[in-house]
Amino acid sequence: MSNFNQESVLSVHHWTDTLFSFKTTRSPTFRFRNGEFTMIGLKVGEKPLLRAYSVASANYEDTLEFFSIKVPDGPLTSRLQHLKEGDEIIVSRKATGTLVIDNLEEGRNLYLIGTGTGLAPFLSVIKDPETYERFEKVVLLHGCRHVKELAYGEMITQTLPKDELIGEYIREQLIYYPTVTRDPFRNRGRITDLITSGKLFSDIGLPVLEAAHDRVMICGSPALVADTRVLLGERGFVEGNHGEPAQFVVEKAFAER
Ligand code: A2P
Repeated sequence: MSNFNQESVLSVHHWTDTLFSFKTTRSPTFRFRNGEFTMIGLKVGEKPLLRAYSVASANYEDTLEFFSIKVPDGPLTSRLQHLKEGDEIIVSRKATGTLVIDNLEEGRNLYLIGTGTGLAPFLSVIKDPETYERFEKVVLLHGCRHVKELAYGEMITQTLPKDELIGEYIREQLIYYPTVTRDPFRNRGRITDLITSGKLFSDIGLPVLEAAHDRVMICGSPALVADTRVLLGERGFVEGNHGEPAQFVVEKAFAER
């Protein structure tokens, strides 16, 4: 188990019957870039039971945070959802992933497109001062079926604007745009449809997406990822990767748990 650290759970928050978040201690040896994921899990018998999780906290914070679905029969989440303060989890010493700003070319505005728990890596990205030094406006889109699934809305709109380190960036450069598809709400519809119709841009008062100027990060279900890839491809956006920065980057939200 030398590739793993043991961390203890500091707090657990249940958003809904199917969504929860938890914070743990952070070993100083664990380093990551904002937007990356790592393997976390539990020891079941002698064996580690591990899944990939985006780190939802920023890399300068001294605790770790994770945002998870609860899958009733899921080997890991059926256990993880019962975590309590003081419980131990294991966390890989390594982090990786494509949703890091270094994988994007310079640009004007950055769009972060997350559905469901696909929001998690962007919670880390929006807390990074460098994100605001690289881009003029940062547009965080969170798409869910139901209003109650719009986790972290209060943190984004109430807590972060008052943050000592990044409050000013958040107030001046972050645009948070939550949208739901199956409840009444001020913003409604799939993110892809809001982009295609142009409604998103008139709502937020920014120019329509352009490959020449804008950069995009995507994290969600395989269907969301596939459809957004097509939409961006049609607009001339090129997908970036490690060592090959381009105009958008993609990660599938981790669903099998
Ligand atoms: P919808 O309710 O119309 O399916 P899920 O929980 O299935 O991952 O969905 C999270 C959010 O993402 C929902 O609002 C859902 O809308 C939306 N969504 C699902 N598939 C796509 C897709 N292919 N393109 C855009 N949005 C999608």
